[in-house]
Amino acid sequence: MKILGIETSCDETAAAVVEDGGRIISNVVASQIDIHARYGGVVPEVASRQHLLSIVPVISEAMSKAEVTWQDIYGIAVTFGPGLAGSLLVGVNIAKAVALAKKLPIIGVNHIEAHIYANWLDLSLATSPLDDETEVRFPCLCLIVSGGHSDLVLMTGHGRFEKMGRTRDDAAGEAFDKAARILGLGYPGGPAIEQAASSGTPCLSLPRAWLRGSNDFSFSGVKTALWHVVQKGGISAADAAASFQLVVVDVLVAKTIEAAKQLQVKQVLLSGGVAANKMLTEHFLNKSPVPVLIPPPHLCTDNAAMVAACGYYHFQAGQTSSFDLDVVPSLSIG
Ligand code: KG4
Ligand code: ZN
Repeated sequence: MKILGIETSCDETAAAVVEDGGRIISNVVASQIDIHARYGGVVPEVASRQHLLSIVPVISEAMSKAEVTWQDIYGIAVTFGPGLAGSLLVGVNIAKAVALAKKLPIIGVNHIEAHIYANWLDLSLATSPLDDETEVRFPCLCLIVSGGHSDLVLMTGHGRFEKMGRTRDDAAGEAFDKAARILGLGYPGGPAIEQAASSGTPCLSLPRAWLRGSNDFSFSGVKTALWHVVQKGGISAADAAASFQLVVVDVLVAKTIEAAKQLQVKQVLLSGGVAANKMLTEHFLNKSPVPVLIPPPHLCTDNAAMVAACGYYHFQAGQTSSFDLDVVPSLSIG
């Protein structure tokens, strides 16, 4: 059963055809990173205009690369939140237009849930020193770390999510982006910090916000501490990047593993752009007592294959949307 996925929540215009909630037939992502890089971050008005220009060619490319016709498609899954309102509207409206024209059901998908479903794609599946896990097993603990979110979510079955923790201030990816700006490393900050850190040593002592007794995270303190250190001078960008990266990784890994033990889950599932970070994945694989699944980097960052996979499971459960589906920019999970 093939589903067309559409994703326009932030700065990637994406469409994908996925079979049976896991097999990627095509996966097209038109990134706007170069356009936003000159402003040092995503400019919402620019993003929505760019989605308008790209969305039709991106969907056409996803259909032609998959070598399918509309008769082969069972439904259209589209991200309706969370994200930038103007960007989400482009995806939701094109999904409605195509669904109406081709008489297909439309499935509104939560972008955070969709990130989790990257773990079902193409046995993207990870690797653990403890076990050769190739399938998701419930209950599992999902860490979604992206530019907009840092959520710790208990998943007990398809569509069954309970939020256990969240960031109280900056999302992990947002912290990487802000740290990179402080260090003059450019946008997006995650890959820039990772690259700079590879030639540095984590010699700075920066604060770790443990928030004991809670599964929540906080990353604004370490960012501010980094700013103060940089103002004083005398530290290389490489050493500062390495120190910052280690703090974020330490906190994410330790708190997630602690929660996984308490909740007695069978697996940990990583997702979101920050899960593309090699140090993060290495620390998880070395330290987790339960198997850790990690999608490959191109499925950690925003894409529509994860939206199609998530949409498939909603479709299987009979959960389709009506044509009054609207965007919900502040949508949460659980
Ligand atoms: O999931 P995503 O593509 O979009 C959102 O839903 O936000 O995540 C983008 C975020 C950005 O903040 C980016 O700096 C971060 O993920 N990121 C990384 C890496 N690659 C992307 N952070 C750390 N290390 C990376 N390699
Ligand atoms: Zn995302």
